Amino acid sequence: MKKLEFSNGDVMPNLGLGTWKSAPGEVGAAVKTAVRTGYRHIDCAYVYGNEAEIGNALSELFADGEVRRDELWITSKLWNNFHAPQRVRPALDNTLKDLQLDFLDLYLIHWPILFREDVFWPSKGSEMVPLEEIPLPDTWKAMVACRDAGATRHIGVSNFSVRKIREVTDATGVQPEVDQVEMQPLLQQPGLKAYCDENDIILTAYSPLGSRDRSADNKSSDEPDLFKNPVISSIARAHDCSPAQVLIRWALQRGTAVIPKSVNPERIRQNYDTLKMKLSDAEMEALAGLERHYRFLNGQVFEMEGSPYTAKSLWDE
Ligand code: A2P
Repeated sequence: MKKLEFSNGDVMPNLGLGTWKSAPGEVGAAVKTAVRTGYRHIDCAYVYGNEAEIGNALSELFADGEVRRDELWITSKLWNNFHAPQRVRPALDNTLKDLQLDFLDLYLIHWPILFREDVFWPSKGSEMVPLEEIPLPDTWKAMVACRDAGATRHIGVSNFSVRKIREVTDATGVQPEVDQVEMQPLLQQPGLKAYCDENDIILTAYSPLGSRDRSADNKSSDEPDLFKNPVISSIARAHDCSPAQVLIRWALQRGTAVIPKSVNPERIRQNYDTLKMKLSDAEMEALAGLERHYRFLNGQVFEMEGSPYTAKSLWDE
């Protein structure tokens, strides 16, 4: 399995715990269960609204000697109303305060999308701002400054197309180290994956299970159920494992990081056990055959009337 190694020798554990949609009151226990199970990578974001509870869980784990800070990989993300260069470091500092950490391992620009500074989540299109107002390279330079200052060891992006990765790289001479995007067998992102492989950019697969627990306004009514897909189910039967485990193992074996979300102790452990599995070449090929460019997270939430963003401009497709 590919080692997710950075140019300075740091290695990101390829399996992480996702925390999007993990409710306050549940996420702290999930993080503790995950660390006790063996997870060493926790994926967070300001917008998930649960970083303070994760911070409490981490500080208890450290205080009790269950894990050391230097054994953990903690990622967080810059939210869409903090792209102005002078707001980037304060946003990171706020996340560090909530997580009760001195530094992050990885900080990502969460979306190539801008909200008005006073807007956490837009209720109308006019609360979103075109990217021309704060071009991505300007935000990226502020991210580089955060890394130079040691507030985060690594920096990257999320939901960025090849075109947008190139835009920030060409303008600043500094390439994102990671791109975190949706990837599952119906959305394998072959072009992005080839580009990242060629350029030593690490990919992290989010929503590897199809994120069935997200809210209705962020869901299509006719979306497929990965757990009922006949190819995935038949491979699961052959391994006497769950379809979720097949999906996670597929991502690991493709050489990406993967961050399945769970707040259920049994499922947190089950997902971790994928580190011991192995899918055959024929099974990987059968899964490769499922590609149909289907996004569960298609960007429709940003397409409200008057918004400067469309799914087409978001994904550059
Ligand atoms: P729960 O948190 O109750 O375990 P994604 O990572 O794609 O966002 O998917 C998260 C969804 O998948 C959540 O509803 C989560 O529920 C569920 N889930 C996580 N692990 C498993 C598993 N091993 N089997 C079935 N469902 C799972």
